[in-house]
Amino acid sequence: MKKNVNFEKYLFQKAEYIDSALKKFLPKDNSIISQSMRYSVLSGGKRLRPILVILAAELFDAKAEDVIPAACAVEYLHTYSLVHDDLPAVDNDDLRRGMLTNHKKFGEATAILCGDALLTESFNLITKSKSGEKNINEAVRILADYSGYKGMIAGQSEDTIANGVWSGKSEALLEKKLNFIQVQKTAALMVASLKIGAVLAGADKKSLKALEIYGTDTGIAFQITDDILDVYADKKLLGKKGSDVENCKLTALSLYGKRRAEKKADEHIRRAKEAIAVFGDESEIFICFTDYIAGRTY
Ligand code: IPE
Ligand code: IPE
Ligand code: MG
Ligand code: MG
Ligand code: MG
Repeated sequence: MKKNVNFEKYLFQKAEYIDSALKKFLPKDNSIISQSMRYSVLSGGKRLRPILVILAAELFDAKAEDVIPAACAVEYLHTYSLVHDDLPAVDNDDLRRGMLTNHKKFGEATAILCGDALLTESFNLITKSKSGEKNINEAVRILADYSGYKGMIAGQSEDTIANGVWSGKSEALLEKKLNFIQVQKTAALMVASLKIGAVLAGADKKSLKALEIYGTDTGIAFQITDDILDVYADKKLLGKKGSDVENCKLTALSLYGKRRAEKKADEHIRRAKEAIAVFGDESEIFICFTDYIAGRTY
């Protein structure tokens, strides 16, 4: 894809395709748990992670329809992380994707169980992808590794523990802590998405390494932007109120201030583009993706 192609339109079309698959996979019954799963999954997220699954699969000549269960599995897992992230014991947020958070709508117990159900079901769903047994096993392992205690949960744990206890510490130490939080809580699931798509399409080890570097730097830049938007965005457009200041979070904005945080994001964007350049002309779409992430307003 050339840079002048309307990338936002492309993203929108891919998100529509993912939405229709999510509707197909989600439970249809009227139990409270199924209602709460549908409520949070079908609430209009940007679907960036499932798009990464598809882009990575297409890079190695697989079809979107072959990896759509894996793409939706990653979105289930991401949505579960948001439902739990918003809970009173974590970030205590009332608004998500422009709607009441799951616990505000259904109560805390159902929100916890909704997260549990989405997490569990994501592993069921990913196995429905069309690929060889070995590749599917590897994709399951990647999803578990990057989302679990060594990955996203490690980042969420540090993020929560860091609430308010970081003032007075040296910038070098805080920078290390912040980097860990950004890589684990956010970049890990983006790397997992890319690797899952690529592995299901039979990619080689060298390509997986390039995707890992690209995903890590894109993910960090994404989280820096998220931190800036938490304070500076039009909250209506953002669909969430922003709670980092209230929760005394260690963020790129609190540590560096806006201008330095933007510079840090630019540096990660540059590194992401450098890593993906190994794919030649086919890197264009990934470059568009990273530019979109950096320039987004919600
Ligand atoms: C929000 O992710 C959570 C973070 C990791 C910062 P997104 O901004 O991708 O959320 P949705 O899926 O579009 O709602
Ligand atoms: C959430 O980070 C990351 C995960 C859910 C894993 P944030 O707490 O910054 O996300 P938002 O700002 O609530 O979307
Ligand atoms: Mg959080
Ligand atoms: Mg949050
Ligand atoms: Mg945030």
